[in-house]
Formats: sequence, structure tokens, C-alpha cells
Amino acid sequence: MRPEVIQARSSAINVALDRIRDGMVIGLGSGSTVAQFMDELRRFIHSSRVCVKVIPSSYQSYLLALEKGLEVTTLEKYPRPELMIDSLDQTTRSGEVVKGGGGALTREKILCHAAGETVLICDYTKVVERLDIPIPVEVIPFALGYVAEELRKLGGKPNLREGGGKVGPVISDNGNIILDVYFGEIENPDELEYRINMIPGIVENGIFSRCVNEIIVGYPDGRIERITPKT
Ligand code: A5P
Repeated sequence: MRPEVIQARSSAINVALDRIRDGMVIGLGSGSTVAQFMDELRRFIHSSRVCVKVIPSSYQSYLLALEKGLEVTTLEKYPRPELMIDSLDQTTRSGEVVKGGGGALTREKILCHAAGETVLICDYTKVVERLDIPIPVEVIPFALGYVAEELRKLGGKPNLREGGGKVGPVISDNGNIILDVYFGEIENPDELEYRINMIPGIVENGIFSRCVNEIIVGYPDGRIERITPKT
């Protein structure tokens, strides 16, 4: 990854660390930005001598949390974590967000809604005028054919996500299939999020409306942009 992107992420991470208080339970997203955040969180915990528990949103972040010596807990034990820290794949300056590039969208969205406050951190390369990347959609395998047809009726072009290291579809941490559905430039993300989720067989989709409190965008020169989505 380019050093300026790592630097930009680091600026956003430092602002997010200001939110951490002793005794907090924090939901953790997935992906490379969150992995970088976990490194900083570990340092922060050691230097500030605070006690923090984390609820990982994927097997990736669970393993990373263990490796970094973070105290892992569960949503069963803490159904309302104080804070959720995550990243994103694309955001507008109005705070419309697409997530799920790592396939962890369902657990991430659950944690975003469960948490008292959700803060997303990202670098400047993720900010766009209009959302236009394919929307990740998690689908129960039995429903795949039907769901693909219904998504086409909504104007989408579904594409089965396939992974490296295994032939065939990527299977999510919940045992489901991921479709990446291209809708072109999305005019009304709130409405599309709702309409996709109304299709039986779809577990969740990667448009995150009304569950994010703040997005912190970092720039390589240390500048920070704060986006406040409508909730
Ligand atoms: C994981 O499913 C996604 O929602 C991530 O938040 C997203 O893909 C960001 O990943 P990077 O930090 O690796 O760009």
C-alpha cells in the first residue's frame, strides 16, 4: 500500500482513538484499515493503561484481535457496545456509505446498529461524489437464482464473488454467498438499501444508511475531514 495512504489512515485513526475510554466495549470492523487501527489501539491501551474489550465482526478481525492481545468478547455478553469502529469502501460527503469489500457486511451492520456510536475511519481515496461501486449483497445459497433475478429487476447486474485460494464462490463467515451488484451511479442509496433488503433470501446489503454517526477521513498531510451522515 502507498505510504501516503497509510499516513492518511493513521491521521484518521488518531482522531478515532480520542473516543476510547477506560472500560469501553468496542465493536470492530474488518479490513486493512481496521487492522491498522488495532495496532494503534494496542499501543494506546498499553500507554494509557485503560481496559477495553472488543467484539470482532469477522473471523479476520477475531484472529487479528487475538494476535494483538486485545481482550475479545461477544455481542451475547454485551448486546449494546458503547462504540463501533470500522472502515468503508466508498463514501460521499453527505455520508452515504458502501461497505462489504471484505465480505463482512452483515456482522458489521449488526454492530453498527447495536453500538451507541458508530465511527468510520478511512483515507481520502474512498471519498466520491456519487456511490458507484458494486453493492455487496449477502445471499442464502438456496435463494441465489431467485435473488439474482429480483436484483436484475431493480436494475442491478449481479456478479458472484469468487476468491483466491479456492475455486467457486466466496462463502461468508455466516455460510452464505456474496453477490457484487453493479447499479451504476446510485441516486438514492437509502431507498436502494431498503428495496434490496426486501427481497426474500437476502440477508443484508452493503449500503449503510442511518447507522453511522461520524466518518473521519484522513489526508496524507495530516488534515482531517469530518462527515456527519444523517441518522
Ligand atoms: C469489510 O467487509 C468492509 O466493510 C471494510 O470496511 C472495507 O472493505 C474496507 O477495507 P480496507 O480497510 O481494507 O480498505
